[in-house]
Amino acid sequence: MCGIFGYIGDKQATNLLLDGLRRLEYRGYDSAGIAILNSNISSSKCIGRVANLESIVTSELNGTCGIAHTRWATHGGVTDANAHPHLSEDGTVAIIHNGIIENSRALRNWLTSEGVLLRSDTDSEVLAHLIHRARKDGLSPLDSVRRALRHTRGTWGLCAIFEDEEVIVCARNGSPLVVGVGDGESFVASDPHALTPHTQRVIFLEDGDLAVLTAGGIKTSRLDGGVSDAIVTTIDESWGEADLGDFPHFMLKEIYEQPEALRQCISGRILLGSGNGKLGGLDLATKSLRDIPHIRLIGCGTALHACQVGRLAIEELARVPTQSHVASEFRYNNPVIDPNSLYFAVSQSGETADTLSAVKEIQLKGGQVMGIINVVGSSIARQCARGVYIHSGPEQAVASTKAFSNMIAALTIFSVQIGRARSLSKSDGVSVLKALNDVPDQIERYLSDVGPIMDAVEAVKDAKHVLFLGRGASAPVAREGALKLMEVAYIPCLAYPAGEMKHGPIALLEEGSPVVVICPNDKFRSKTLSNIQECKARGAKIILIHDEGDDEAAAEADVAIAVPSSHSIVSPLLTVVPLQLIAYHAAVVLEKDVDKPRNLAKSVTVE
Ligand code: M6R
Repeated sequence: MCGIFGYIGDKQATNLLLDGLRRLEYRGYDSAGIAILNSNISSSKCIGRVANLESIVTSELNGTCGIAHTRWATHGGVTDANAHPHLSEDGTVAIIHNGIIENSRALRNWLTSEGVLLRSDTDSEVLAHLIHRARKDGLSPLDSVRRALRHTRGTWGLCAIFEDEEVIVCARNGSPLVVGVGDGESFVASDPHALTPHTQRVIFLEDGDLAVLTAGGIKTSRLDGGVSDAIVTTIDESWGEADLGDFPHFMLKEIYEQPEALRQCISGRILLGSGNGKLGGLDLATKSLRDIPHIRLIGCGTALHACQVGRLAIEELARVPTQSHVASEFRYNNPVIDPNSLYFAVSQSGETADTLSAVKEIQLKGGQVMGIINVVGSSIARQCARGVYIHSGPEQAVASTKAFSNMIAALTIFSVQIGRARSLSKSDGVSVLKALNDVPDQIERYLSDVGPIMDAVEAVKDAKHVLFLGRGASAPVAREGALKLMEVAYIPCLAYPAGEMKHGPIALLEEGSPVVVICPNDKFRSKTLSNIQECKARGAKIILIHDEGDDEAAAEADVAIAVPSSHSIVSPLLTVVPLQLIAYHAAVVLEKDVDKPRNLAKSVTVE
């Protein structure tokens, strides 16, 4: 979603800013812009890619202090005028803003009645005018931002520059912002990933924090004028090192990285000797694990599908009632929070606004929430305080792949850990963990010969719609396969538990309709095979994901893709891989922008 990068120091800012924006491109955006302070503020902005912005940036844009932005439209269409930065009428203040100003309509009306000419349809522009008015009243840059924000309701990751003073003023409320401490220079970004080429010393601003950046350093404070608790922390340099290598797209690279990512996730967390799992970050004693009455898993999109897989594993292995929840619904349904229950917030980015808000709601009502997160130091990770990192490494493609696998792996280890504290036998624990341990090698073997993926792509690429079916843990895998194909290839997809198909979606089937069925050799296999017959009887073309050696199932399919056979608890880790590949190759064949699908963002920081 929207990206922010800012620089103040002794170097020419323009190239640094454009480079910062390029590092944020993976988040997804529709326009880009930049403002640089010299004797006055010059700015350029346009719709499209950072490369478009680069092509219109002129030599006037030189100076050692500037801010830059990639916009993902919320209020106001995708137009040059709506791109950020937004300037005050006289051009002496420029702002970039992530988040949503909820009272922008009232503020726009008021500014208009005061004779201010608004040049965009955005909610953000009001901030430039409010800050400018405070500045005209003689307030300092910091106090001008403070006064503007006191009139504002909503969320912000905000940066402002001023014609008459060389500073960047930043503010955070509900939209991530991290400042970077350099030698004789300071940085700000919406994502620490953009800072790592310049500095590993960062300050994660908290909601209500402000920061004033100069070349000489950073001063933080609170919106109410108090002292901020923000401290300098050191982040891992390697986080920023994702590059394509020999792969044409990040999505493909990340699919192929799954074996290694999984090894990183499970390393040191599997105790085969005792058949137990060890997620140290949870810091839960056996006694507490025994007493937990209920578990709730919360996430969005792919993370939600991982929760749905995890829910089944926990109930199966630990016999603890468990539910998974759509984060955006959970928060607003006035959830009943049991302080004895355990809540997990599952997120790759750790910045998803819906999930973060759900965490805050649970905490407000006295519940304990643990994070299952990829990005170290992200907002949800910090908000939860306890939890586990899934160690997928940087995930750049908007379509999540390796994070899905690692979320499932972490939840599987947790299922064993809580199961062993209750009624799960050592031998059952060992068998799940051994199976999990074998998965990275099994995926590697599958990836060395992926089977007739391109035949499946041929079957789906021109389809009006594609139906995905599975039972048990394969039902969320079906949803994940549908989400992947829909988001990168823009093919309408529907996913259903296979047994539910006859209650409605079967009406869609006609001669040649592609149906993707996930049918590993588990207790649901024979029922799913019957559902395949129901589809075939209506002329559907079956793309089957099945276990190696299951020739009987393969014989029922038009396209049969075999994956290595595994324990039913971990089978989603194998069956999802061909679905990711089908989505990827379909998008390539259809010439879609695989890594940055239209309208989507990598970290969804608005509700
Ligand atoms: O960063 P998160 O895991 O919290 O993101 C949640 C969803 O926005 C994300 O999984 C989204 O659905 C992906 N585009 C799926 O590929």
